[in-house]
Amino acid sequence: MRTQVVIIGGGPSGLLLGQLLHRCGIEAVVLERKTRDYVLGRIRAGVLETGLVRLMEEAGVADRLHAEGHVHDGTQIAVDGEMFHIDFKALTGTPVAVYGQTELTHDLYDARAAVGARTEFEVDHVTIHDADTDKPYVTYDQHGENHRIDCDFIAGCDGFHGVSRQAIPLSVRREYEKTYPFGWLGVLSRTPPVHDELIYANSDRGFALCSMRNENLSRYYIQCALSDHPQDWTDAAFWQELKRRIPPEVADRLVTGPAIEKSIAPLRSFVTEPMRWGRLFLCGDAAHIVPPTGAKGLNTAASDVHYLYHGLRQFYDSGDSEGIDRYSERALLRVWKAERFSWWFSGLLHRYPDQSPFDLKMQRADLAFLRDNEAQQKAFAENYVGLPY
Ligand code: FAD
Ligand code: DHB
Repeated sequence: MRTQVVIIGGGPSGLLLGQLLHRCGIEAVVLERKTRDYVLGRIRAGVLETGLVRLMEEAGVADRLHAEGHVHDGTQIAVDGEMFHIDFKALTGTPVAVYGQTELTHDLYDARAAVGARTEFEVDHVTIHDADTDKPYVTYDQHGENHRIDCDFIAGCDGFHGVSRQAIPLSVRREYEKTYPFGWLGVLSRTPPVHDELIYANSDRGFALCSMRNENLSRYYIQCALSDHPQDWTDAAFWQELKRRIPPEVADRLVTGPAIEKSIAPLRSFVTEPMRWGRLFLCGDAAHIVPPTGAKGLNTAASDVHYLYHGLRQFYDSGDSEGIDRYSERALLRVWKAERFSWWFSGLLHRYPDQSPFDLKMQRADLAFLRDNEAQQKAFAENYVGLPY
């Protein structure tokens, strides 16, 4: 068969791109390795920049996000038992939205099904062919049969472990990576959030984050050792450790309950360049990873989708390839800024095994400067709510 764009990966990047293309009459097929339920079972990001909210509106899938998402005008930062507030709305005029990636993905799958757009689940051995020619095609196996789709373009939206990035020859590809000597242990619980804003905490026992999904669903994270396994942490041990890392009056209010999900994510910074090879374009986690501190992963995937969608639209509307030719350059300029912010914010809040007393003093001075200096708060807020695109 033939389509205009083959999208590899049915995560948020692939689904959002597919929906935006559909709205302007460009046909795309999404190929997803897992089942829909498996994709929807992954608990990941929770904070959406306004840019992503606008893209969801443009894709016609923002009704539930507006009805059930929560607008947050600021965030709290806790250091040694004291908290200070950063007021995004006052500093930048822009809030963020709290709405789970699971819900967003759900909405996109529903919208795709409603318009009859084609999604193939449980595909295997997805292989990209002739991406450096003007006749690319993709082959895959599904339920024991081999399939081929000819297309104009391929969008590699298949996450960090996908095949798309690997299809770019090593002679062309340059990768930049930093790993961090700790992970995040995350717990989801059916309990009311401990505070009406997120709390990012630096404590001498390590980082903690109090986040949420809705009035009765909370998401908490603590920095943990890379060698830890979720099953090593009983619910009681998790709650006890979280309480020790957040201000005492917050810990006193914390409502605990059984963990309905518990997982550990390693922290990594990673960028591959370029994000385009011939007619193959990388989008989202397929091209870059940030440590989760600051919630930039999903939001950076969204800015890639924006640039690629507009590039493809320009090409199909007028034959002008300027947007797709400059896709990699435009996307990467913003990606590196999100990498910088996530790296910096991670450094501000975590305990590192090799941190010297001097390093700790620098971290404290950096935090005090953020607490006391409006220009620094504004720079922080601009990055957190999302740089323009
Ligand atoms: P993905 O969500 O990874 O989607 C890629 C899709 O491609 C998947 O559905 C996968 O099954 C599919 N796929 C992979 N290989 C193939 C193949 N060969 N063929 C077909 N399909 C394939 N960000 C935050 O902002 N805050 C967080 O708290 C946070 N927590 C995270 C926790 C974890 C464990 C991980 C891995 C990421 C987390 N992120 C977080 C990052 C955020 O979730 C990602 O940036 C976001 O999911 C990127 O979307 P994506 O569509 O580009 O990639
Ligand atoms: C969440 C995750 C983050 O990495 C973050 O910075 C804020 C919120 C979350 O999962 O709710």
